[in-house]
Amino acid sequence: MGDTAWAVAASLLWLAASCYWLRPLWRRDQPTGEYQILVVWASQTGQAQRLANQALHALQAAGHAAAGLPLGQVTPAQLLACRQLWLVASTYGDGQAPDSAQTFEHRLMPQAPVLPELSFALLGLGDSQYPHFCAFAKRLESWLRDRGAQPLQDSIYLDNQDPDGLVRWRASLAQHTGLHALPEADEQPWQPATLLSRSALNPGSPGLTAYHLSLQADALGPWQAGDLLELQHADQRRLYSIANLGAGKQVELLVRHVMKEDGSQGLMSGWLCQQAAPGEQIEARVHHNPSFALPDSPAPSILIGSGTGLAGLRALLQEQLQRGQPSWLLFGERSPEHDRWLASELDQLTPQQVLLQRCFSRDNSSADTPRYVQELLREQPERLQEWVSRGASIRVCGSMATGQAVDSILQGLLGAATIKQMAADGRYRRDIY
Ligand SMILES: Cc1cc2nc3c(=O)[nH]c(=O)nc-3n(C[C@H](O)[C@H](O)[C@H](O)COP(=O)(O)OP(=O)(O)OC[C@H]3O[C@@H](n4cnc5c(N)ncnc54)[C@H](O)[C@@H]3O)c2cc1C
Ligand SMILES: Cc1cc2nc3c(=O)[nH]c(=O)nc-3n(C[C@H](O)[C@H](O)[C@H](O)COP(=O)(O)O)c2cc1C
Repeated sequence: MGDTAWAVAASLLWLAASCYWLRPLWRRDQPTGEYQILVVWASQTGQAQRLANQALHALQAAGHAAAGLPLGQVTPAQLLACRQLWLVASTYGDGQAPDSAQTFEHRLMPQAPVLPELSFALLGLGDSQYPHFCAFAKRLESWLRDRGAQPLQDSIYLDNQDPDGLVRWRASLAQHTGLHALPEADEQPWQPATLLSRSALNPGSPGLTAYHLSLQADALGPWQAGDLLELQHADQRRLYSIANLGAGKQVELLVRHVMKEDGSQGLMSGWLCQQAAPGEQIEARVHHNPSFALPDSPAPSILIGSGTGLAGLRALLQEQLQRGQPSWLLFGERSPEHDRWLASELDQLTPQQVLLQRCFSRDNSSADTPRYVQELLREQPERLQEWVSRGASIRVCGSMATGQAVDSILQGLLGAATIKQMAADGRYRRDIY
């Protein structure tokens, strides 16, 4: 083949690849003309979504034609058609976008058109204890400005739910909507929860002790697998993955008793795991986290986690058992002798219900034994492909380190584009902390 033919063939290939790459974005296009305002959220654990919903309800109550949707579903056509964009975006991982917004950042942002007709108001959620404070929201702001969009006001970057920043955000909403009383931000009211029981999950483990706790909370309201419980003690709030389905009034948690280097214990985990006696009360509320829930359509699930990450995975597993759908559970801890958490419960499930695989970082039985869940995964690329091709969703729960290591193995085995698309479609989600 001559040089020209090569060039033509290469261009055609490039065009085909580009069309394939763009295809999923345009396939989901929706009619947009009727909405002047879009309220958009990028959220990992539900906070940004709640605040965006509040803004949406306020704008609608003031008579605006406003629609709300997750950033991961926004299309270029929608951006061109709307006049105002209200954005609430959190930052996750190490300065990254929440999982559901990764596709937007990596695929859509670089190719978006200029948007000179668009005005925007932006609320970034973050925590200044992380080195890249509100990094994703800041990238969104500079991208919007680069595209010619006009800010309606100074962007607000909230440090750890800082109340002053929230007041400023609410004030700007009130000013733009003309409403004096804004709808509530969907927060559940605090309810008393009574500690019923506490048992160690890993006596003798070389790691910190973790406990299986049960709390009685009559007025907590319903929750679904994937939701979190927020607890308040001594003016401090902490989130915990709920470890059971929400049919009854008892909520279960798996909590690690945090011991700090100076010998002091974690504030909340110390209260839960040691100080509180059964019968004592704490304030609690459900923190809905719909993005971690399993998709509605029944399909297998791949549940991957380490340590107390088993909490969120257990609730999802219970839901899969109820739906009659199989799960593949990969769980990592330290010691094969002491860290078979919830063994009496998990080991009695049939292989049709759950393909249960454990690994232990302090297992000296063989140099070839996988020690971490990412190593377990890496050993089974065909099984992973097969489950994913059957429509399985992937959920990862536990430490940041596990979440990041698993993410890079998944990207290697399935391809970065597949993982990003699965995240955009709700088939790949992480609850890591
Ligand atoms: C979405 C989400 C879900 C969570 N789910 C769970 C869960 O299911 N079970 C659970 O036990 N925790 C969970 N956590 C962590 C939990 O919210 C608290 O951060 C943890 O219990 C420590 O709080 P504390 O008040 O005891 O410690 P603090 O008094 O806040 O002390 C924190 C100190 O301990 C260190 N530290 C914090 N967490 C750990 C840890 N796990 N191991 C070692 N050192 C730590 C910190 O670096 C810091 O120095 C979750 C967090 C998030 C954001
Ligand atoms: C694992 C983890 C990583 C985080 N990384 C960052 C970060 O890099 N920068 C930041 O400003 N905030 C970070 N945060 C804080 C979140 O942005 C903040 O808690 C936010 O309120 C979460 O909102 P969401 O519930 O909508 O996801 C992180 C939080 C968690 C749990």
